[in-house]
Amino acid sequence: MIILLGPPGAGKGTQAKKLKAAFQLKHIATGDILRQEVQRGSELGKTAGKLMDAGELVPDELVAEIVRNCLEGLPEGQGIILDGFPRNVWQAEFLDRILDGQNVHVINIKVDEREVLKRLSGRRYCKECGKIHHVSVPPSHSLDRCDACGSALVQRKDDREEVVSERLNVYWAQTYPLVNYYSSRNTYHEVDGNREVSRVFESISKIVDTIGHDRV
Ligand code: AP5
Repeated sequence: MIILLGPPGAGKGTQAKKLKAAFQLKHIATGDILRQEVQRGSELGKTAGKLMDAGELVPDELVAEIVRNCLEGLPEGQGIILDGFPRNVWQAEFLDRILDGQNVHVINIKVDEREVLKRLSGRRYCKECGKIHHVSVPPSHSLDRCDACGSALVQRKDDREEVVSERLNVYWAQTYPLVNYYSSRNTYHEVDGNREVSRVFESISKIVDTIGHDRV
């Protein structure tokens, strides 16, 4: 199992999608699952949506249940990328408990705050196929259409400036301590996420290659 760590906008989703395709991994993104629930208008979505729009974390127990359900029933040996989970020490401890000694490789994508702000303000996503775009990253030149399926591109509500600053506060207070939680393990890795998408992917792929498919 691979955990992608990093601040909002670090490129976790972008890299996870590329890794999924290159290494046939199962991509579990708690943010994407929660956004689907919001769109469906489920009870979970109603609770989560308000918190997400404010840049706060959704209660641990709710997200932990989502992850437990996603992990259950996966074929034996299926490689997994966790994107957006764990988000705090409680969630990391929960994961350790349910994995019961299974190896977890953590890849921390380190990105400067100025770059994060640029990425989040320019992010657009496709409501149909989920592809992530950036208004200034090729080939996403169009501001309003997905280059994969042609559907409309939208901005996430939590990418508004005032919400982004709260998400960053939450990151530093609750998620950053996970670096300390994992970094003493020899399964902790860091990559420089300030570079272009393909260069970051190259570095992450090298790590995944080294880990070996069977242990992911
Ligand atoms: P979530 O969806 O997980 O958001 P996040 O962690 O804040 O991360 P982002 O999705 O904003 O960024 P990313 O790192 O995936 O970057 P991306 O690849 O899109 O969570 C949203 C909310 O859900 C949370 O605030 C919380 O409320 C709730 N939630 C989720 N999980 C939870 C949990 N475990 N517990 C409690 N609550 C939870 O890239 C960003 C932009 O940059 C894109 O436009 C992209 O095209 C561009 N880009 C990417 N890489 C590069 C690059 N190398 N160079 C230039 N541009 C790039």
